[in-house]
Amino acid sequence: MTSNTFSPFTLRGMTLKNRIVMSPMLMYASDEDGIMNDKLFVHYGARALGGVGMIATEVLAVEPRGRISAQDIGIWSDTQVEGLRKMVDFAHSCGVKVTAQLAHAGRKSHLSGTAIAPSAIAYDEKLGVPAAATHEDLEGVIAAYKAAVDRATAAGFDAVEIHAANGYLLHSFLASETNKRDDSYGGNDEERFRYPLEVVRAVRDSLPDDKPLLYRMCVDDVTEGGVTLQQSLLLSAKLKDAGVDLIDATTGNIKPGGYAGKVYPGYQVRYAEEIRKATGIATATTGSVASLDLMEEIIGAGRVDLIFMGRALMRNPFWAIDAARQAGVEIDLPIPTYARATGPFERGF
Ligand SMILES: Cc1cc2nc3c(=O)[nH]c(=O)nc-3n(C[C@H](O)[C@H](O)[C@H](O)COP(=O)(O)O)c2cc1C
Repeated sequence: MTSNTFSPFTLRGMTLKNRIVMSPMLMYASDEDGIMNDKLFVHYGARALGGVGMIATEVLAVEPRGRISAQDIGIWSDTQVEGLRKMVDFAHSCGVKVTAQLAHAGRKSHLSGTAIAPSAIAYDEKLGVPAAATHEDLEGVIAAYKAAVDRATAAGFDAVEIHAANGYLLHSFLASETNKRDDSYGGNDEERFRYPLEVVRAVRDSLPDDKPLLYRMCVDDVTEGGVTLQQSLLLSAKLKDAGVDLIDATTGNIKPGGYAGKVYPGYQVRYAEEIRKATGIATATTGSVASLDLMEEIIGAGRVDLIFMGRALMRNPFWAIDAARQAGVEIDLPIPTYARATGPFERGF
């Protein structure tokens, strides 16, 4: 049997065995040192055994004040490389690629008193008012991204993803509601694009040529003062020119309340599709895509290239093995004995 979902996909020097990617999901399960501990190693390892094509890590903070919480994993220190490498090596032993999600929470950091943002505007009362980032802060964040890329390379990651959605630092530069700067990083669309594009170019410059660069984009905030689809189409073309290989399209979250649009299976596919059509760049969708039929349809129709699957994989690490069986496709199982549980056996021995 042939299947769109279980067909390989190549970006630069990286080939995924199928189109199912474990979407980044912060587990709040690390310790203050930001090191990948055993609990997280097993968490990621289970999804590697479960047959996904690629694992995307949860947010990896590029600097300590860029953490969402004190339980985030980090990539701001050399002490964090070994734990990450162990997980990446294990995934590779299962034939699974791994991408590091490099992130800075900006004004959505829950750590007290240290947050920076384009402008001194609070996300909500609880998180308080961040400091408007100085030029020195912004240069420091770029240096932190570059150092994080070097650590990701040392840890053996196959790709990196820049997190520019969910209301975090880079997203907040793009939205007019959160970026009121009067220097060259604020103002019209082009000016608000400037800092995220500087980060992208710096990351691309540090990343080896054969490794793809992914970018998680909020395509539309569906709210006054948030980013719009039209802006995002413009930005996507610039990201492509700057060396981004795939846009992982999501929506909303610049303000409390998330997303005002309707939510249904595949509700964000159209955003990825618009970007793919307008720019020719590869895209991924995320959000309530949790059935093989839907995946087959949207990949087969050329609407998206990859599916970033979140909660379905949190519920069931072996989702991809079950889907392969449903698709009638034989896949290489990291532990071949698992076939005894997926085949048509009446007795298990
Ligand atoms: C517990 C949880 C943590 C998440 N953490 C992240 C994260 O670290 N980075 C990110 O880009 N998205 C994060 N997300 C969003 C997911 O990557 C995904 O896009 C979203 O859950 C929609 O996909 P789904 O419907 O398949 O779950 C998180 C989602 C959940 C449920």
